[in-house]
Amino acid sequence: MPATTASAPGKVILFGEHAVVYGQPAIAVPVNKVQARAVVAARPGQQGIQITAPDISLNKTIKDLPLDHAISRAIHLTLEALGVSEPPAFAIKITSTIPLASGLGSGAAVSVAVVRAVSQFLGRQLPAETVNQITFETEKIHHGTPSGIDNTVITFNRPVYFIKDRPIETIEIKQPFTIVIGDTGKPSPTAIAVGDVRKNYQENPGKYQALFDACGKIAGNARWSIEEYRLQSLGPLMNDNHNLLVEMGVSSPELDRLVAAAREAGAMGAKLSGGGRGGNMIALTLPDKAYKIAGALLSAGANNTIITEVRP
Ligand code: PMV
Repeated sequence: MPATTASAPGKVILFGEHAVVYGQPAIAVPVNKVQARAVVAARPGQQGIQITAPDISLNKTIKDLPLDHAISRAIHLTLEALGVSEPPAFAIKITSTIPLASGLGSGAAVSVAVVRAVSQFLGRQLPAETVNQITFETEKIHHGTPSGIDNTVITFNRPVYFIKDRPIETIEIKQPFTIVIGDTGKPSPTAIAVGDVRKNYQENPGKYQALFDACGKIAGNARWSIEEYRLQSLGPLMNDNHNLLVEMGVSSPELDRLVAAAREAGAMGAKLSGGGRGGNMIALTLPDKAYKIAGALLSAGANNTIITEVRP
């Protein structure tokens, strides 16, 4: 059996994180400059499935991993979907350039790459909808109660307008536009921020429902601005969304510092992206200012930046 390789991109949420968990729309786009990769190869004369992921110091057989480990779960669900109960021995090696626990979708990207590489190795491609569903199951391990936005944008590798439990809608990007992503360097597990928002919502439903509704409205307006290439209105919508996330309690001093630095350096708008508390922020810019903004982010404490184009 020949070796197989599959890759999946990272992602950023442009609008609507957290509110999306409560049924509001959100917009997410793939980031192909960072990728997770899985390589599957036969292990002639040996038994079992060997999993190595040097980035997280993992080197174990699947039998030695708990069933609720995200990678082992992705493999088990793939075998189940293929109807394979006794797979041939194989080794899977996972590498990724997507920073961990920072809102760029590393968990979902690893799962998508694993499912695709294993199913190709076993001779059958699974439909995208099945890859998406399996990855959603692994996201539950990472996130607790995921909305499903990460697995969807990464599986389909297209900009999406996402509403929980609704069929996927892709966005028409009239003209590509540039964003700069700044990493605070502070890992922040999404499950904790999502859990805190839930607690606050339960204690203060009126306030939080109003915040979620306002985020949803912004995401709707942002879709229109993207489809019409109205960057002048898209930037302020990012700023408004960031303010709502601050009120929700999911920003952090590091994120606020990077957001302010991006705006001072000429960004049209900036906001945290993803679960918050750490992880990444994004800034909207015209292409000629992107390097200046990236430099300002590094000076303000970012440990990494990515300049990328959002395109169809
Ligand atoms: O994986 P992250 O950090 O981009 O978070 C996903 C976005 C949330 O809305 C915070 C959670 C979710 O499941 O939608």
